[in-house]
Amino acid sequence: MKVLLAKRAGFCFGVKRATQMAFEAAGIDKTTYTLGPIIHSPQVVNKLEEMGVKVLKNLDTMDRGTIIIRSHGVASHEIEEAVQKQLEIVDATCPFVKKAQEHVKRLSETGYGVVVVGDADHPEVQGIVSYGGDKVFVVGSGEEVSKLPKMNKIGVVAQTTQSFENLKNVVSECLLRGGEIRVFNTICDATAIRQEEAKELAYQVDCMLVVGGFNSANTRRLSEVCVEIQPRTHHIETAAEIDPGWFDGVERVGVTAGASTPKWIIDEVVSRIEELNKSN
Ligand code: F3S
Repeated sequence: MKVLLAKRAGFCFGVKRATQMAFEAAGIDKTTYTLGPIIHSPQVVNKLEEMGVKVLKNLDTMDRGTIIIRSHGVASHEIEEAVQKQLEIVDATCPFVKKAQEHVKRLSETGYGVVVVGDADHPEVQGIVSYGGDKVFVVGSGEEVSKLPKMNKIGVVAQTTQSFENLKNVVSECLLRGGEIRVFNTICDATAIRQEEAKELAYQVDCMLVVGGFNSANTRRLSEVCVEIQPRTHHIETAAEIDPGWFDGVERVGVTAGASTPKWIIDEVVSRIEELNKSN
């Protein structure tokens, strides 16, 4: 059985950066916390916890020490609270997410109504929205644009993981409403690249493993994309979940991983498949 690993499986630039910053901070200050999980990987969160870095839901109980801001950002009032409390801030917000936050802030300050294309329940979007004034609206698709109040000047930004197609649809609908429109394409291509590579791989194999947190939206999406092409697709978090029966009659197995999956977990999965291969 041959194992084919996707070229860009695992950490994207922003997650890699945030994880490095968190591990560095963990070694310096004994009272270090992250505001929400640093990335969507329970294994990385556990490893940090072993080093004394705990996850906080909010800053209510924190009055000293270091707070690490997760890769997909937090709400502006949370940063303000950390500044007020004079906490040491390690801002690991991905620079691409930060860009979207800054555009919303500037657009709001210059009198634009802002349309954020994305999932209103996602913490990244909630963070981005918080940087604007009272005229910031989240839309999930072009159809939702008709429900927005009248605005003469509209600024559009997108959640970093949105598809270009969806942003285009929303912009087209905004154009139909008339007035001035400024569009900032804040989509990051890391997710799209991983999906394209996963699709290509799924066509070449008889079984596909997608590795990553069950709470990671981009890993779940990778798994959905693969299962459409290769029904023998399995979403796992760690090597321990591998069922040897999955490989019955399999000649080529593909492995890919979400943008928040650490390399050590991917390596363990590949080693486990190779071990099973040898024992057969
Ligand atoms: Fe940043 Fe893109 Fe990753 S926005 S966190 S590099 S998916």
